[in-house]
Amino acid sequence: MFNLILFGPPGSGKGTQSEKLIAKYYLKHLSTGDLLRSEIARKTPLGIEAKKFMDKGQLVPDEVVIGMISYALDDNPDANGFLFDGFPRTAMQAQALDKLLELKNTSINVMLALAVTEEELVKRLVKRGETSGRTDDNNGHVIRTRILEYNKKTSPVAEYYKKANKVVMVKGEGTVDEIFSELTREIDARMKKIKTSS
Ligand code: AP5
Ligand code: MG
Repeated sequence: MFNLILFGPPGSGKGTQSEKLIAKYYLKHLSTGDLLRSEIARKTPLGIEAKKFMDKGQLVPDEVVIGMISYALDDNPDANGFLFDGFPRTAMQAQALDKLLELKNTSINVMLALAVTEEELVKRLVKRGETSGRTDDNNGHVIRTRILEYNKKTSPVAEYYKKANKVVMVKGEGTVDEIFSELTREIDARMKKIKTSS
């Protein structure tokens, strides 16, 4: 199995690059943002509760997202590996993920962290807000709250994986293809190492 975390602030391109990466490496894409939006669309109790936080740009409580990921891992027993997008976002989520993967005799191979300036993030999200229909994209205050939440609660998650030497910073500005090619270079190098050592 090969498991990777695509990390980065709101608007850094996690979703865009995930689509391309799962097509190339046949990984199962687990985006907690997408899972939550699907719960909202189906008007489930979980979705109704989560919407209150998401509309304000705040993180949804840990137990809700950890439960969703735990279910999704069990629901995909034959996966080649997982691409985590937008998860983990807090230290507690990172610890929970390690435990869940350990139960499956696997672990995170690498965290690829997209670096994008705040100015560019806001520009991208405001632009997407014109057409996306995402309620958290069409309000400057909500976009700022999302970035603040990231800086305060999520960015320290990278430190957790740095201790295990698993973090690679990748420039998240440039064309989608340029960034994709940098990400695949990092992944290929790690996959090759696993093959030669097994
Ligand atoms: P989530 O859905 O994860 O959103 P996000 O992290 O705020 O980030 P986005 O999905 O907006 O951006 P992205 O990095 O995927 O970039 P994208 O490829 O779309 O979370 C939403 C909410 O759900 C959270 O606020 C929270 O409430 C809740 N939530 C989710 N997970 C949670 C968790 N684990 N714990 C607690 N709460 C959670 O690109 C953005 C835009 O830029 C697009 O328009 C794209 O076309 C454009 N773009 C992409 N690449 C480029 C490029 N290279 N150049 C120019 N434009 C580009
Ligand atoms: Mg996304």
